[in-house]
Amino acid sequence: MQEHNNRRQITERERKRAIAYIRRRLILYAVVAGIIVLVLVIALSGRKNKQSAPETNTQPTSAADTTTQPTTPPGEWQELTMTKSDMAQGHLILVNADYAYDPEQAEDLVSVYEDKNDDYYVSSVDLSVSRTIMQSLNNWMEAFYQETGVNNVEIVAGHRTVEFQQYLRDRALENHGQEHADNYIALPGHSEHHTGFAVDLDTYYVETDSLGGFDGTGDYAWVVDNAWRYGFVQRYPLNKKDVTGISYEEWHFRHVGLPHSKIMYDNNLCLEEYIDYLRQYPFDGEHLLASVDDEEFEIYYCEGYNVTVPKDREYEISGNNVDGFIVTIRN
Ligand code: DAL
Ligand code: ZN
Repeated sequence: MQEHNNRRQITERERKRAIAYIRRRLILYAVVAGIIVLVLVIALSGRKNKQSAPETNTQPTSAADTTTQPTTPPGEWQELTMTKSDMAQGHLILVNADYAYDPEQAEDLVSVYEDKNDDYYVSSVDLSVSRTIMQSLNNWMEAFYQETGVNNVEIVAGHRTVEFQQYLRDRALENHGQEHADNYIALPGHSEHHTGFAVDLDTYYVETDSLGGFDGTGDYAWVVDNAWRYGFVQRYPLNKKDVTGISYEEWHFRHVGLPHSKIMYDNNLCLEEYIDYLRQYPFDGEHLLASVDDEEFEIYYCEGYNVTVPKDREYEISGNNVDGFIVTIRN
C-alpha cells in the first residue's frame, strides 16, 4: 500500500512535469509561428510596395539626378495671382527675337567694378549687372582662379540700355553687314543684356594692355564647363542657332540659377528648349525633381497668372516672359 502510494505520488509528479513540458513547448511553437507570420507579412507588404511604385524617372536624357514624382497632396498649397509685369521678372525669363524685354523692368543694378573680387577684370567702372548675380559671378571667377591660377578673365559687357543696343546694332550693320548683325547682335529691346542677368567674357593681357577674346578653350574650358555650378549657362551654344536665332557665342553667359543651370547643362538644353521642356511638368501633373550636391529641388510650371506655391516650403517664382511661371521649391 505504502509502495502503491509512493508509486501514485511519483506518477502525479511526472504528470505535472509532463504538463509543464507540453505547456512550454506550446508557448515555444506559438512564438515561432508568430515570428514566421510576422516575417511573411513584412515580406509580402514590401513586395506589394515595390510593385505599386510608379516608374518615376521620365527624363528624356541621361541626367541621373533629375526625376519626377506625383505632386504633394493638396492642402499644403496656396494660390497667388501674378501680373503681366511679374511674368517678365525672374532668372528664367526668355528674351529673344520673339520675346522682348521691357527695359524698365531691370532691377537693382550694381557696378561690377565696385563689387567684384580680385580674381578677374571689368572693362569699365560703369559696367553693371543685376545685384542678384553678383555673388555668383564672384564665386565663379574665384573658383576659376583657385583651380587654374588664371585670373585674367575680363567682363566686357553686362547690362545694356536699349539705346546702347541700338548703337551696337547700327555699328555692326555698318561695319559687318546685315547677316553678321542678325547673327550676333539682338534687336534693341530683345537683348538679354537689358536684363542685367547676362555677361560677356574676354581675356585681358596686362603686358600689352590688350584683349585676347574668349573662346572657352585651354584653361578657359574650366569656365565653360563649370559655369552651371554658379548658375550660369552659355546662352548661345554651338549648333543651336536654329533655336536661339543667334550664332555660337562662346563668351556670352546668362544667369538662370541653380538647379536650372545644371539641368540645362546636363541635357544640352538652351533656354528656349528648357522653357518648353518645363511645360511637361505642370503643377497638377508630375513635378521635375533635381538634386545638386546635397540639395533637393522640385520644379513645376504654371500657365497664366494663377501660381500655386507651397505654404510651408522655401520657393522661388520666375516668370518665363512668355506665358507663365516656373516655381522652384527647395525641399
Ligand atoms: N549678342 C547678344 C545676342 C545680344 O546682342 O544680346
Ligand atoms: Zn552678350
